[in-house]
Amino acid sequence: MENFVMNRRASLFSLVAIAASGLVPSVGLAAGDALPTVKAYRNPGCGCCEKWAGRMKQAGFDIVMEDDNDLAGRKEKLGVPAELSGCHTALIADYVIEGHVPPKDILRLLAEKPDALGLAVPGMPVGSPGMEAAGDADVYNVIQFDRKGSQRVFARYT
Ligand code: CU
Ligand code: CU
Repeated sequence: MENFVMNRRASLFSLVAIAASGLVPSVGLAAGDALPTVKAYRNPGCGCCEKWAGRMKQAGFDIVMEDDNDLAGRKEKLGVPAELSGCHTALIADYVIEGHVPPKDILRLLAEKPDALGLAVPGMPVGSPGMEAAGDADVYNVIQFDRKGSQRVFARYT
């Protein structure tokens, strides 16, 4: 059992701090708005999903994680492209979050509200939130995807 930092409910301090740093245009979410609750699904027993959920809580999100015995079917129904699949699938506001997407990119998504289905970090890159390992880290992209099959790089971690 991991002890997660107490969830600061509806904390927008992190978002405001990021916005103030100039990394994120402060549109979409106004200060004082609550962060939407995250509903996440994972294969039963997968541990790195819980670690990702812990990172989300640290960033101020409320997150509910549920086991799903047909996660692949859920991804397909939601429209997650197969090549983008990761080890868990989450819903937040009107977006799908696939895999180990960094919380700050989700905050940016909620602020910018692009016309997209969601964000994905395909696979399980070492060094992504919830996949931390001492020493090395993979280079990976956060991919923005839509229902029509178009994809673009939303963020890149090197
Ligand atoms: Cu994982
Ligand atoms: Cu996992």
